[in-house]
Amino acid sequence: MKRYRIALIPGDGIGKEVVPAGRQVLEAVAGAESGIGFEFEGFDWGGDYYRAHGAMMPDDGLEALRGQNAILFGSAGDPGIPDHITLWGLRLKICQGLDQYANVRPTRILRGIDAPLKRCRTEDLDWVIVRENTEGEYSGAGGRVHQGFPIEAAMDVSLMTRAGVERIQRYAFRLAASRPRKRLTVVTKSNAQRHAMVMWDEVAAEVAGDFPEVGWDKELVDAMTARMVNRPASLDTIVATNLHADVLSDLAAALAGSLGIAPTGNINPEQAFPSMFEPIHGSAFDIMGQGVANPIGTFWSASMMLDHLGEPEAARRVMEAVEYATADPKLHTRDLGGAATTAEVTEAVCARIAAGAGRPLATA
Ligand code: IPM
Ligand code: MG
Repeated sequence: MKRYRIALIPGDGIGKEVVPAGRQVLEAVAGAESGIGFEFEGFDWGGDYYRAHGAMMPDDGLEALRGQNAILFGSAGDPGIPDHITLWGLRLKICQGLDQYANVRPTRILRGIDAPLKRCRTEDLDWVIVRENTEGEYSGAGGRVHQGFPIEAAMDVSLMTRAGVERIQRYAFRLAASRPRKRLTVVTKSNAQRHAMVMWDEVAAEVAGDFPEVGWDKELVDAMTARMVNRPASLDTIVATNLHADVLSDLAAALAGSLGIAPTGNINPEQAFPSMFEPIHGSAFDIMGQGVANPIGTFWSASMMLDHLGEPEAARRVMEAVEYATADPKLHTRDLGGAATTAEVTEAVCARIAAGAGRPLATA
């Protein structure tokens, strides 16, 4: 039996509801004759921790995470604390501190989900967005001077390094090569941003030389939004800067039916540090505490985590159970137009995993 150490960081808002649901699903997989087990360690970091200790996580928090095999994260964000403090104090601190430089965001229209694009067939939309996750527009470089005076000045510097750009392009080309269509779209804005984005394009062209099997093209980020809506089938793997991919991945999630479904992995591809998996929906304070949050984004993230740990069969089982649930409108939460609760969806997914114990589950 292989045992994995998993850190659970629910964080704030509905993170406190969906992460326990994700743990239940992992426990169901562990019980289902999969040959794997988990040791969970919970961390109460986030807004409440900040109010008690003046920081989102302790100084030695990263040390506590280094020994884990992976991290399941909920969300960071608190209505009483400025967003840049919650974000930089927890999620970005972990992503940068553990060098999780590849943020991977798959999008598909899951079975039974009604997607808004009228002319889009399910098979037309099967994308993975690779988001640069440690530098670019989120580098944190910049400053603010003369606050409150008319001469006040502020800047956020988008810092790109050749090493940082090359490693994310290489990751994206490798991922594209591993997918059936072997197709990569490099998102850019080098028409207007004439320094870093031009280097981004040049590095992409250089890396492409090592992947002759991958068909690739370049798209400006503004035109990309229109292409995602008008020609979804022309896209497969997509690589973009930190901010561009942030925006494009919300559009992708909405086009696939709901932000409540979308998963992500913050990956350290070299496995020198644990990677972190999370739903992309955020803390959603408007619905917190009501038990109606959609846990599917967390379950899909848990499936990505299993894949990353080298357990593709367990990962597939979770996704089979997830699509079993999404196929049933009675198991749709409010964001999907239904009335199911977090607990009902979680129970259904866990029961499905348990029912499939010991035998491969059908995927069609
Ligand atoms: C995401 C989120 C975050 C981001 C927010 C919460 C700062 O939108 O994961 O996409 O921009 O990275
Ligand atoms: Mg976002």
